[in-house]
Amino acid sequence: MNIELNHINCFYGSHQALCDISLCYPLGETIVLLGPSGAGKSSLLKVFNLLEVPSSGDMTIASKHFDFSHPPSEQQIRSLRTNVGMVFQNYNLWPHLTVLDNLIEAPCQVLNMNKAEATEKALKILERLQIDNMALRYPLHLSGGQQQRVAIARALMMEPKILLFDEPTAALDPEITAQVAEIINELSATGITQIIVTHEVDFAKKVASRVVYMEKGKIIEEGDNSCFIHPCSKAFQMYLSH
Ligand SMILES: Nc1ncnc2c1ncn2[C@@H]1O[C@H](COP(=O)(O)OP(=O)(O)OP(=O)(O)O)[C@@H](O)[C@H]1O
Ligand SMILES: [Mg+2]
Repeated sequence: MNIELNHINCFYGSHQALCDISLCYPLGETIVLLGPSGAGKSSLLKVFNLLEVPSSGDMTIASKHFDFSHPPSEQQIRSLRTNVGMVFQNYNLWPHLTVLDNLIEAPCQVLNMNKAEATEKALKILERLQIDNMALRYPLHLSGGQQQRVAIARALMMEPKILLFDEPTAALDPEITAQVAEIINELSATGITQIIVTHEVDFAKKVASRVVYMEKGKIIEEGDNSCFIHPCSKAFQMYLSH
């Protein structure tokens, strides 16, 4: 039940954003993707739920196998996304729906869950993230940190095996960033696999069980949390020093 990428290449027009990426992790890890702007972190993150479809290589994830020499079908992609959730950087909440309605929309539409059951589940998740008192508010009437929790809560409604985050702490102050780190660590204790793109090294140190450092579409260094203290490559050492 590993997550495995083999020789993944990804292009935008003639620009190669990912070059021969291979990696393999058992489930349950919290994997942090680091690297300078344009390194390909978001592109790699989007491969895991096929928001980007590679032009070659193969991937095994959530017990599904994709060989990108044939394009995956819409049905395969939809089915993958019920197991691989994503928390977007701009939260992507529906502004015209309350927090509660934002949470129950996908389970009711996609999983055909009934509304009472979805509501009960949503309230439990909101309670776990300590925002149950905000269930009836609209997203724009919440702070950035609260919206981030709602976005996490919404992803958790689908009970994903794997949860992807693109810069979950961008635009959050240090105290709220620390709270997001706590939430990620609590989720990790439940066994969920998390893959997180961030620019914030202190945040990365708090949550990562595995670290992937990228530059120009390539993996430069890969290791466990100790590589923050003992980076092997000059490039990662330089990145950490500023
Ligand atoms: N939709 C797109 N169309 C064309 N080029 C793109 C597209 N998305 C990304 N790129 C290019 O692919 C490369 C990798 O982009 P990506 O967004 O994955 O980088 P990143 O590491 O997430 O950077 P940042 O830290 O700035 O978010 C960059 O050179 C970028 O300009
Ligand atoms: Mg990015």
